[in-house]
Amino acid sequence: MRPSFPLTIGLALITAATPIAAQSSDSVALAQLSLMPMPASIHIDSGGRLALTPSFRVAVPRFRDGRLLRAAARAITRLARHTGLGLTHEVTRDSVLGTLVIDVRGPGETVQSVDEDESYTLDVTTFRAVLRAPTVVGALRGLETFQQLVTATGSGFTVPLAHIADRPRFAWRGLLIDVSRHFEPVDVIERNLDAMAAVKLNVLHWHLSDDQGFRVESKRYPKLQELGSNGEYYTQAQVREVVAFARDRGIRVVPEFDMPGHSISWFVGYPSLASSPGPYALPTDFNFTAGAFDPTRESVYRFITRFVGEMAPLFPDHYWHIGGDEVDARAWDSNTAIHRFMRRHKLKDSGALQAYFNRRLSRILTAQHKRVVGWDEILHPDLPHDIVIQSWRGQASLFSAAQDGYSGILSAGYYLDAMSSAGQHYAVDPIPTGSDLDSAHAIHVLGGEACMWGELVTPETIDSRIWPRTAAIAERLWSPSTVVNVNDMYRRLATVNVELADIGVHHLSGPDAMWRLIAQTDQIAALRALQHVVEPVSLGQRMHTRRPTLLTPLVEPGDIVTPDARGGRALSALLDTLFHDPSRAPGLRDSLAAMFAQWQALAPTIAALTARAPLLTDADSAAGALATAGGIGADALTYLGGGQPASSAWTSDRLAQLDSLTAPRGLLKLAIIPQLRRLVLAAGGAASATGQ
Ligand code: ACM
Repeated sequence: MRPSFPLTIGLALITAATPIAAQSSDSVALAQLSLMPMPASIHIDSGGRLALTPSFRVAVPRFRDGRLLRAAARAITRLARHTGLGLTHEVTRDSVLGTLVIDVRGPGETVQSVDEDESYTLDVTTFRAVLRAPTVVGALRGLETFQQLVTATGSGFTVPLAHIADRPRFAWRGLLIDVSRHFEPVDVIERNLDAMAAVKLNVLHWHLSDDQGFRVESKRYPKLQELGSNGEYYTQAQVREVVAFARDRGIRVVPEFDMPGHSISWFVGYPSLASSPGPYALPTDFNFTAGAFDPTRESVYRFITRFVGEMAPLFPDHYWHIGGDEVDARAWDSNTAIHRFMRRHKLKDSGALQAYFNRRLSRILTAQHKRVVGWDEILHPDLPHDIVIQSWRGQASLFSAAQDGYSGILSAGYYLDAMSSAGQHYAVDPIPTGSDLDSAHAIHVLGGEACMWGELVTPETIDSRIWPRTAAIAERLWSPSTVVNVNDMYRRLATVNVELADIGVHHLSGPDAMWRLIAQTDQIAALRALQHVVEPVSLGQRMHTRRPTLLTPLVEPGDIVTPDARGGRALSALLDTLFHDPSRAPGLRDSLAAMFAQWQALAPTIAALTARAPLLTDADSAAGALATAGGIGADALTYLGGGQPASSAWTSDRLAQLDSLTAPRGLLKLAIIPQLRRLVLAAGGAASATGQ
């Protein structure tokens, strides 16, 4: 007998009753889970659990689509690795045999659109889990949720009883990867696509050309990749492979060919496209260059038409990103033919000339059934309303575009190279609470994209710059706007961080390998300990310290350490307990004293390593600063334990020392200074520091 699916009615009720906010009938049970992104609606019933045993089987009774079966196979492999169970990979048609029954109504769109239905429901009983979705893409999202529900308990692996009805808040949830400045091979892209799928992102925005490199093979214009790259580019077969790989994971691939600026790499092989004769060479630095396409010549549009005609079948997505950012008007100002053209066409300034160029591009792309996406500079009243604006200069441009009826996606606030914390990105909402965008205009806000610009990342470091912070952005874009608890986000992110490593991204293994590389030893425990309490300086500071170029190998401590230093957050939590739970204070003071002693002990160890490994210089300098901070912390603890507040002279002197320790050590900064300030203030008797 085939089971009917008695939960359908219940789910309909749940969906109707809890339309937007993530809710749980059992918040204690929810607090033991690490779902990310949080589903739109989740009810946990702690009255039992579904046990995962060696007889676990996946059943796909109805719609057996290759994409779904491949996703099921990947999930089984991951579950087997996670649980240590020898699970069968055979997917049965028989629901009765299934521990996880995946019931899908149809394949979804042939070319996934921004309107693809990604919803799903997941019902877990003590017998089985049933995942239902209108499309395969929805099932892919639900499969990720199912895997995140699997929890280790003392006796084995189980899934809590749950009713989940989920769908995304925003339809466009992307990650930009810039492969122009530093090329990222196919395996890097594919492992990041796997990680994107795990957190339900659905757009890879592939930034394929910029001044420093043109990264796709053109058979029609081979000098694009032959002269416009250092030999590192994707063949057309590789592009097809990546697009298919992404589609298998429910991810669209939107190519960006940035023009008319950011385009020197085109002109190395084809200087006649440019508004100045050249010759052109690939820049080896990141200085702003003034080269741009010549928008006045018909031959330029013929070239672009043929180029787009060649590329369009490789990138089946309905959207095509034309870039359009940071066009330097000097590129056009110096050309008298361009001036004449502007007068003849009544184009009053370079903005109008760029709008003319974009209109022509838009027509070329429309003929290929593509819709235009561009950076916010392209917004101009002369452009058709079906373009999408990607806002990088601030949220205001997204809102003004939406007010004018243009769709938009937010990237301001999601720049991963800024080296902000996950918490800072998490606080950025495409439609913040209280925004004055009314609902008629808010529908134009399609979502957002995290941006991994490529100036300062290599295949070795890119994963630790993208992950795990992008998981927090993914949650912002998927989950209801009410899911805003930062501490809970960090709690869940700690688990997701480890899962992402299992999925295949190198964000945890990469830093260790690089410490070994630059320390020239496998004795890296001290460097790992330092890594927990230091962070990279901001992008601005980085660009102005030792001015990196494309020749910089990016193998310094500042390329290894990551935002969200774990030790900084742990210290904050310890201090919260210290000041709020006096019964635990003596024990916590001992733990803190041990921590500060460890900080002080790192300095001589790292100094000894640095004596043989000069690339560690910043680590050595940071370790020295950390030792000073540790000494200040130890003294503050002595005052706190002795019951007598420190003198105001001591307090102000130590605060001044801490201030001086905030200065970067090369490309590193300490991530524990605010916490030590709090401790010093508390030692001086300031009630505000202890929160009492
Ligand atoms: C940009 O950051 N120039 C889009």
